[in-house]
Amino acid sequence: MKLLFINGPNLNMLGIREPEIYGSKTYADLVEFINGFCKELGIEAEIFQSNHEGAIVDKIQEALGKFDGIVINPAAYTHTSVAILDAVKAVGLPTVEVHISDVSKREGFRQVSYIREACIATISGQGFEGYKTAALTLLKELNK
Ligand code: DQA
Repeated sequence: MKLLFINGPNLNMLGIREPEIYGSKTYADLVEFINGFCKELGIEAEIFQSNHEGAIVDKIQEALGKFDGIVINPAAYTHTSVAILDAVKAVGLPTVEVHISDVSKREGFRQVSYIREACIATISGQGFEGYKTAALTLLKELNK
């Protein structure tokens, strides 16, 4: 099983950015956490981060034929990007949306998710653990 993990803008600033919301662990810690549980679960993982919408669209398109599913935290692009929604729809790979914070309890503009309609699930407010929940959701779906 091959999963692509995509992280959007400013997630490379984890540990520095708003630690009261996102915690004190860094992006390197997140990468280590994802690699750790993927090894345990027998998942082959690639982890990608970009601050650029087009680079994320390119990465989603390139996943076709290479990956079985996608875990994506589009970060701020969640609330703005039709292009990322269309890319996920275009490749048709099972995709789970993840947010570290509980977006449902934050500002109104964070309640909107363009990508949600193309995802089999949304995991929000579980911190780093949400990435594992997302991977387990995909494993379940892909083993159906
Ligand atoms: C986020 C929530 C988004 O609203 C925000 O723009 C982010 C991170 C999260 O993981 O909680 O950058 O996706």
